Amino acid sequence: MRSDGERERQDPRLAAYRVLSDVDRGEFADRAAGRRLRGLPAADRALALELAYGSIRLRGRLDAELSRLLDQPLERLDPRVLGWLRLGLYQLRETRVPDHAAVDQTISGIRTTVGAGLTGLANAVLRRAAREGRRQDAYPDADHDPEGYLVSWGSHPAWLVRRWLARWPLASVRRLVENDNKPPPVTLRVLDASLDHEADLVPEDGVRLAAESDWKGMFRLAEGTPEQALRSLPCVVQDPAAAAVVDYVGDEVAGPAVDACAAPGGKTIGLAWRHREARPFVAADVSGARLKLLRESLDRLRLDVGLVRMDSRVPAIRRARTVLLDAPCTGSGVLRRRPDARWRIDQGRLHSLVGLQEELLEASATVLESGGLLVYATCSLEPEENEEQVESFLARHPEFRREPPDPGWVAEGTTDENGDLRVWPWVWDTDGAFASRLRRL
Ligand SMILES: C[S@@+](CC[C@H](N)C(=O)[O-])C[C@H]1O[C@@H](n2cnc3c(N)ncnc32)[C@H](O)[C@@H]1O
Repeated sequence: MRSDGERERQDPRLAAYRVLSDVDRGEFADRAAGRRLRGLPAADRALALELAYGSIRLRGRLDAELSRLLDQPLERLDPRVLGWLRLGLYQLRETRVPDHAAVDQTISGIRTTVGAGLTGLANAVLRRAAREGRRQDAYPDADHDPEGYLVSWGSHPAWLVRRWLARWPLASVRRLVENDNKPPPVTLRVLDASLDHEADLVPEDGVRLAAESDWKGMFRLAEGTPEQALRSLPCVVQDPAAAAVVDYVGDEVAGPAVDACAAPGGKTIGLAWRHREARPFVAADVSGARLKLLRESLDRLRLDVGLVRMDSRVPAIRRARTVLLDAPCTGSGVLRRRPDARWRIDQGRLHSLVGLQEELLEASATVLESGGLLVYATCSLEPEENEEQVESFLARHPEFRREPPDPGWVAEGTTDENGDLRVWPWVWDTDGAFASRLRRL
């Protein structure tokens, strides 16, 4: 008899199912996947990851169709069977797995993990789904019921969709939602500014990089693994939107410089590489485990940055000329990177993060010397975390003012009328980012 562990090491669908169950119990998808998929061979791991992440991302879409097929509320179903049904339907609708394999293997998964007694219903539902094919009438029409469409076909929570529709045209929200539903490409920031063209780069065999035409120094990993690329070039894995925050900080970064929420450290590395004169450079974070990742990157690139584990609301640093505060946020601009994040955030979480950001901003302001620069950044699209946070900070602090960046530091069209950085995912096909430069007078 094979043990559960052994079976998981060999069966990508079972491993994907375990990831789904872990996420239902509150674990982060990346952590669950790291643990559950560890023993699988590379091709099976890729399949398991696609099935798990895809079923989590598209849970809203899958559930809308399952509700129609089942003709009963999904809450009445055994959650284990529901997990398997999501995986089975995902394979039928979103992958090239042959229908019979998707159905048979799902049923066999239910038999081994739940019991033979519960296979009948699932069998009937999946066979019907396979027979009927996708029926677009399972989803509301985008023009007649935009919210219903974006919640079900778009697979986003209703509260978020409502907020977005109140702010932006339907076409933009549609593109945003579609962008979130696709696994993102791997992009790299090449740190050495002289290596600006593909022809200048000589990565190791098996690695091919394609320049991102809109973004200076950014390359898409067209072939090879991130590890290979990191081994052969001075670079970091980073989305163009995150790299834009580094550019937006500007040319004059003076020490002492503090990155107050630094880990895992893509922005620290970009800044520390470019501004070697800005020392001391301190990277702080409350998470020791995340700082460890930053330590590894700094060592790889031989960068002189001091690491401090601290709660930046009560900084252990007395004074700074430059502070980057890349604050913890809902991450509503990076939902494509974290398949489970959209189901995790809610209005309550948004509200408590706004409070935390405000405390971090206040503490950053107290360490900044006169004439110093504070850059506040998030990867959120929500006004409470972005421009409203900055406006209320400026109202409390007349000794600060916004200082727009020089033209040319960031790509044209990425700053707004206040000089804040705004990278909209639906415009650029990237993550989202916000940043504001605040000068202490
Ligand atoms: C948006 S991430 C930073 C990303 C990072 N700047 C980068 O480019 O890789 C926010 C970070 O804030 C850290 N954090 C959360 N609360 C904090 C606090 N009170 N003090 C310091 N760091 C905190 C988290 O551990 C997380 O690493």
